[in-house]
Amino acid sequence: MSRLVVCLLLLASVVYGDRHDKYEGHQLYRVAGSSEEITNLDNNLDILSANPASRSTSGKFEALVRLSPEEKAEWIPYFERNGMTYTKVVDNLATILRDEENKIEQARRRRDSDVPIWEDFRRHEEINEHLDALAAEYPDTVTVINAALSYEGRQIKLVRISTSRFEDLRKPVIVIDAAVHAREWITPPVALYIINQLVVDIVDSDLTERLDWIIIPLVNPDGYEYSIDEDRMWRKTRSLNHPGSFECPGVDGNRNFDHEWGTNENAGNPCTIVYEGPTPFSESETRVIRDAVQQQINRAAMYISLHSFGSMFLYAWGNNGSLPINGLSLHLAGVRMAQAIDNVALEGADTYIVGNAAQVLYFTTGTSRDWTRAVGVPLTYTLELPGYEYGFLVPSDYLPQIVTETWSGIREGAKYVIDVYGV
Ligand SMILES: *[C@@H]1O[C@H](CO)[C@@H](O)[C@H](O)[C@H]1NC(C)=O
Ligand SMILES: [Zn+2]
Repeated sequence: MSRLVVCLLLLASVVYGDRHDKYEGHQLYRVAGSSEEITNLDNNLDILSANPASRSTSGKFEALVRLSPEEKAEWIPYFERNGMTYTKVVDNLATILRDEENKIEQARRRRDSDVPIWEDFRRHEEINEHLDALAAEYPDTVTVINAALSYEGRQIKLVRISTSRFEDLRKPVIVIDAAVHAREWITPPVALYIINQLVVDIVDSDLTERLDWIIIPLVNPDGYEYSIDEDRMWRKTRSLNHPGSFECPGVDGNRNFDHEWGTNENAGNPCTIVYEGPTPFSESETRVIRDAVQQQINRAAMYISLHSFGSMFLYAWGNNGSLPINGLSLHLAGVRMAQAIDNVALEGADTYIVGNAAQVLYFTTGTSRDWTRAVGVPLTYTLELPGYEYGFLVPSDYLPQIVTETWSGIREGAKYVIDVYGV
């Protein structure tokens, strides 16, 4: 390329910019502190992930936080005052986001166009088309239900998988959802792969003959599409139903459930990234999960919400750190799933942590994990998938590994459910 062309291109990107410009100068810091201090950060800043003391290099609880230049001016002194150690890990987030985009493009060019749907990041429409095609091809086992419209009017699809048309009321039900948080792009591929293993590549017919499944592969399509087109870091829904929504649209779907909702003052601020919404279940997206679970409440034995990232199985109660009465089973089933994943994980990857959400991380309210446990589902988890060194910007090259290893864990969890609740 001639120097002139390079100059023009540079100029064009300066003048016109791209959608990652808003993260120009944003930096990522690894901050170590007490659980209370990190909770305070969670209420005020964008925490990308947290690392329990048992796994951190500092031996303290650590969080990966994003700081805009303005936030940096405010929060670095706060870290200093509170004796929290901090290290910069990313100097300019915008550069990282542009790199990610290039990597995805390159991977696409390297592959033929008909790679399995779970080996790339797909648009909402493509995922829905795939699900409808599957239902048409496997009418005996797959039913795709148009569960609700998102705030912006996108179809949220729910997949029911059953060899008995959901009519055998003795079968336990497993419910799995993905992409409640928009930016966690690796979660829909995992859900789609689980569906494939149950329906197409039937690896273990017991899993559908003795269990029924409800899978919602893309809970928050508005946020997801927005994270592709506009803002890679978008996490919430895109609703405008709350006071202050013009300035700060959207609700954190995983704070919007009716469990200890409203008990954390900070989550009531529409501009925090963990905004709980104007009322519990204010979002049609979270109501899809609520209704799916409630309709099968007598049979629902396991609920797993797929998130990214941190390699963890987290269970209740996230609001206060005490254990539900079946804490031992929650731990046992969690460990079985975690070990199944660790056995086939990439060399050098973090091993999975299994534990109470508040003890491993920090206090949270209004989560789907705690709500499902509270309404009577015995085994409920937030599953934080691996991030390797990329966080939730995991390149699509890792998708085959992540979907297959996670499937090993889910399969083990399903076997546990059959052992304990099956007939
Ligand atoms: C912790 O929260 C759960 C769920 O709201 C509640 O059932 C339990 O009693 C609480 N435990 C303590 C020690 O406050
Ligand atoms: Zn999440």
